[in-house]
Amino acid sequence: MSQQVAYSPFDPEVMADPYPVYRDLRDHAPAYWSPEASSWVFSRYEDVSAALADPARYSSASGIFPTPPGVDMTELFLPMLIMSDPPRHTQLRHLVSKAFTPRRIAGLEAHIQTLVDDLLDQTPEAGPWDFVSGFAGPLPAIVIADMLGVPREDRDRFRTWSTTLIQSNPTRGEFGAGLDAAAALYDYFAAFLAERRAHPQDDLMTALVQAEVDGEHLPEEELLGFCLLLLVAGHETTTNLLSNSAVIIAQHPESQRQLVDNPNLVPAAVEELLRFDSPVQGLARTLTRQTTLHEQTMEAGDTVLLLFGSANRDDHAFPDADHFDIHRAPERQVAFGRGIHFCLGASLARLEARIALMALLTRHRDWDVDLDSSIRLRSGPIRGFASLSFQ
Ligand code: HEM
Repeated sequence: MSQQVAYSPFDPEVMADPYPVYRDLRDHAPAYWSPEASSWVFSRYEDVSAALADPARYSSASGIFPTPPGVDMTELFLPMLIMSDPPRHTQLRHLVSKAFTPRRIAGLEAHIQTLVDDLLDQTPEAGPWDFVSGFAGPLPAIVIADMLGVPREDRDRFRTWSTTLIQSNPTRGEFGAGLDAAAALYDYFAAFLAERRAHPQDDLMTALVQAEVDGEHLPEEELLGFCLLLLVAGHETTTNLLSNSAVIIAQHPESQRQLVDNPNLVPAAVEELLRFDSPVQGLARTLTRQTTLHEQTMEAGDTVLLLFGSANRDDHAFPDADHFDIHRAPERQVAFGRGIHFCLGASLARLEARIALMALLTRHRDWDVDLDSSIRLRSGPIRGFASLSFQ
């Protein structure tokens, strides 16, 4: 099997535009060993989907980010849903899934619409402004803060911690900042959890504190892990979906015009935006047994990085996949993963994106972005922007 392809998820050039190297991986090295990530890398749609559907072989319990040999991610983080396998995963997921059913989420529509309008009311009518700090960052942060029951005024604090967390990666020796940020988030939540025990309220944190599995409350560390996961997964991803969407639509004026003329196309456009430039580019699994694929033999304990961003650009699943087409209806896209860990917040993210996009199309119509004055996020798993110049 050819190793002439060179791929590291942490290479700034890859972060700027990963799609050419993804194509090389799919064509020439579909089971690729990345020394930088100490991981095997799967890039084809069928391999990524098959791995997601087989959690017994591809375990999440040792972590979902590539880590260097000898680093155990489960020692770095408190236990959490996304880093667990059945049967614990099934129990934990059951506890929170009620809060995220499509019906419960649909009930948030008016609330989200008000937030979107309020935020856009505060942006300048003319001249460039930062789309991330002015809109794409605060919207999902406020929505998840309200659901959890933490003060929305704290959003700058928890956004700083969570952005630090997603930008620090363990293979570059800079993970200390990420651990400090996680510790700060745990401290932050511990005080609220104690308060909710004493004074229950109608929010997700109270529901977690009161939840029981087999007659037992969740241990404190699992509660803290849950809060961190919901906060980080609940807004970093959606922020970057909104930013990536603003860029892609600006780069496709014909699609922008069609969406302005026919807002009914917005839900399908959101699916295509998720496919075309997936906010979560890839997450890892750990093999539980020896596995041979594409002539490569991988050992139990090896890490495998599943590139959702590449699977979603695979021509075998999406004909002419590099072409952005709001009429495509890419139902099989894997931007939210698949199988037992399928994104808990998918309905919420879709609703936020639809309302946000609709409002932008109404207010700004033919907006533009200036990528030279914008800053890309420096994150292996998350694709998006730290700042985005919008006008
Ligand atoms: C899981 C992506 C928004 C909460 C996932 C997974 C992906 C993903 C790919 C699968 C992880 C895996 O297989 O290991 C996204 C994207 C979003 C988004 C692209 C926005 C565009 C949200 C929101 C929340 C959320 C708004 C809500 C609070 C979660 C949780 C999990 C998860 C809790 C873990 C589920 C489990 O392990 O069973 N997400 N997500 N996500 N997501 Fe999202």
